Amino acid sequence: MTLVHTVAELRAALAPARAEGASIALVPTMGALHDGHGSLIRAARDEADVVVVSVFVNPTQFNEAADLAAYPRTLSEDVALAQAAGADLIFAPAADGIYPEGFATTVALRGTLTETFEGAERGVGHFDGVTTIVAKLLAMVGPDCAYFGEKDAQQLAVVRRVVADLSLPVRIVGCPIVRDPDGLAMSSRNRHLSPAAREAALALPRALAAAASGVESGRLTDGDTLEQEAFASLRDAGLEPEYVRAVDPESFTSVQELDGAVLIVGAARVEDVRLIDNLPAASAAPRRTRVPTAQAVTA
Ligand code: PAF
Repeated sequence: MTLVHTVAELRAALAPARAEGASIALVPTMGALHDGHGSLIRAARDEADVVVVSVFVNPTQFNEAADLAAYPRTLSEDVALAQAAGADLIFAPAADGIYPEGFATTVALRGTLTETFEGAERGVGHFDGVTTIVAKLLAMVGPDCAYFGEKDAQQLAVVRRVVADLSLPVRIVGCPIVRDPDGLAMSSRNRHLSPAAREAALALPRALAAAASGVESGRLTDGDTLEQEAFASLRDAGLEPEYVRAVDPESFTSVQELDGAVLIVGAARVEDVRLIDNLPAASAAPRRTRVPTAQAVTA
């Protein structure tokens, strides 16, 4: 496996494969790799001839300097994990290789998709940072396909929108959330959890699972009640909820009448660690037709 740090090295390393018509996959990451990233790399390995993993802690998508400073940087472990999962090439650029002096272009997607939930909590600049770095990485690597985790469901929807809107010649592949055996979604930030916070953090997947089963059984029929119940259980466990909502998985508009398929998205803080997670849910049958009124039955 090859480790490169500059765009020139990256392009030179990919040139022979490209000349032979080999398919290239990109797995963009910010490092601190865990088995969730491993699953993306393995999925890419199954489908493409050459697998490139980028490792770059992108400063422009952080809204808090402390969060950026605390973000784990573990390149040698990342190289080992990526290699074991089947990567061929790691691209780990320096910040000035990505944002040289005079850099002045931003890829900005506006509207509900970037201004709600993660966009609202982290500031709209968060998604501008994500869309700009993803567009740059796609331009640098020129992959046939790129792999993103469904844990960051809003990011995945944003990336799909940008790729469609800019007619970028790449297939975006979403991969399922990887969870620890107790249900906590894997995240690079989990390593900052104390044992007590790690235990409390389980309240988030549990609240989402309770909400999903409430939707599926027909007990929960509106988004506000879903949010209230989830907030109460998160607070009981000592978490500070940011949002729990049923949304349309493509547009991320909030769904109030829970009578179809939704994605339940949630974010909460425990100690200083931010957790996000999501779960799809579909009510058994559209509410409008599920319970006919007596009048409708006798008519
Ligand atoms: O999901 C991430 O790790 C990052 O947001 C990404 C896509 C690598 C862009 O920096």
